Amino acid sequence: MKILKSVSGIRKALAEEIKAGKTIGFIPTMGALHMGHMSLIQKSVKENDITVTSVFVNPTQFNQKEDLDKYPRNLKADAKLLKQFGCDYIFAPGVAQIYPKKIDTTVKLDIDHLTQSMEGPNRPGHFVGVVQVVKRLLDILEPNKLYMGQKDFQQFSIIDYMLKKLKMKTKLRVCPIIREEDGLAMSSRNVRLAKKHRPLCTVIYKTLIFTKENLGKKTTKYLEKKAMERLAERPFNPEYFEIVDGKTMEKIKNPDNHKLIVACTAVWAGKVRLIDNMILKGKV
Ligand code: PAF
Repeated sequence: MKILKSVSGIRKALAEEIKAGKTIGFIPTMGALHMGHMSLIQKSVKENDITVTSVFVNPTQFNQKEDLDKYPRNLKADAKLLKQFGCDYIFAPGVAQIYPKKIDTTVKLDIDHLTQSMEGPNRPGHFVGVVQVVKRLLDILEPNKLYMGQKDFQQFSIIDYMLKKLKMKTKLRVCPIIREEDGLAMSSRNVRLAKKHRPLCTVIYKTLIFTKENLGKKTTKYLEKKAMERLAERPFNPEYFEIVDGKTMEKIKNPDNHKLIVACTAVWAGKVRLIDNMILKGKV
């Protein structure tokens, strides 16, 4: 496995691979890797000749400088894990490589309609930054396939929209949420949970299951209200729990009118913000 830090370095290496007829799978990450990420690596290794993982903490998607500064960075540990799972290249650029002054990396794409709900209002500008960095990385790496996790449902939906709208050739593959034994979705943030809060976090998964089981039996308004109540018990504080159309991200009323329905939530467990979701109807 090679670790490359410059755009020219990774492009040169991948040009050789492409010349040799190899297919390329790509997983964008911000490091602090865990088994959720590894499920994406495994899928890419299975489906492509070459797997590339980027490790780049993208400043344009953070709305608070403190959050950006505090974001865990440990390339050594990430590299060890990636090597173990069969990744071929790590692309670990600095900010100047991704956002050089001479290149306009802004993406001309209107995503307003997909960012009115859930993570959008809670993190202004976040998805514009995500679109910018993923587009830039795809332009550099030109992979055949892009792997993203279902855990960030709104994120992959927006990237899916971008790929289609801009007619990009990379195919998006979405991988299911990987959960701990008690149902807590794996996340880089879980290690920051207070010890006494950790066992209580199973309530998020249980609430999603309850919602799934009751879709169509109770109104979505009732299910959202019930979930918000359940997730408001100490030490939790929910930001949102929304049942939305999986393509438009708009809240739904009648499940019969939608092919893909997903419940998404963001909950504070003490000082840690957790997100999770569950597909209630249909398939991504
Ligand atoms: O999900 C993430 O870790 C990031 O938003 C991504 C897709 C790597 C873009 O920086």
